[in-house]
Amino acid sequence: MIDVVYYVAASLDGYIAAVDGGVDWLNQFGNSNEDHGFSDLYSTVDGIVMGSHTYEFSLAQSQWPAPDKPSWVLTHRDLPVAHPSVTLTADEPSRLVRSLAERGLKSVWLMGGGKVAASFRHTGLISRYIIAVMPIILGTGIPLLAAVPGQDVLTLIEAKPYPSGIVQLHYESKLG
Ligand SMILES: NC(=O)c1ccc[n+]([C@@H]2O[C@H](COP(=O)([O-])OP(=O)(O)OC[C@H]3O[C@@H](n4cnc5c(N)ncnc54)[C@H](OP(=O)(O)O)[C@@H]3O)[C@@H](O)[C@H]2O)c1
Repeated sequence: MIDVVYYVAASLDGYIAAVDGGVDWLNQFGNSNEDHGFSDLYSTVDGIVMGSHTYEFSLAQSQWPAPDKPSWVLTHRDLPVAHPSVTLTADEPSRLVRSLAERGLKSVWLMGGGKVAASFRHTGLISRYIIAVMPIILGTGIPLLAAVPGQDVLTLIEAKPYPSGIVQLHYESKLG
């Protein structure tokens, strides 16, 4: 089983982006002394998986943010390929994870967004959640996990507060 880690930043009220998909609200919490475990996570994952909305957001950046890791983008559309490391796929999550395991991947960063993460959760594919809870309430936006029925009981691995007011929660899924 691949270690699928949903690593993301969310508001206290559980949104990962504003209604228009914007994440500018995250910038005010930027602090060069805190990387919230990003380097550790990034150095240990073998690849990245994301939904097409998250991908389209990444496309708007001046350069592809993860050229040194293979990335898979779940989409049913014919989107532009941003970098040779990017593969577009219309596979169902369980089929994709199986094929990544067959390729020898041991760990992937599920970058988001909330729709794809919900779809992975629904099929019991997320082994760990690392959520940086930002000290802000957005009131509305794109949820951390789109609404999908079913409960998952989680085991707390670590809760780490930062001087900026961010608290990073690390949970393991009992399904994982
Ligand atoms: N705060 C953070 O750390 C953070 C991190 C990541 C993303 N974000 C934000 O999250 C937002 C995007 O999240 P989102 O929830 O709207 O979208 P998403 O999960 O990134 O993408 C959803 C889209 O992926 C495609 N898709 C293909 N297979 C799917 C499947 N099995 N399950 C679900 N979707 C599938 C569908 O579009 P097609 O029509 O292409 O098939 C679907 O509409 C962006 O604004 C991004 O900036 C924030």
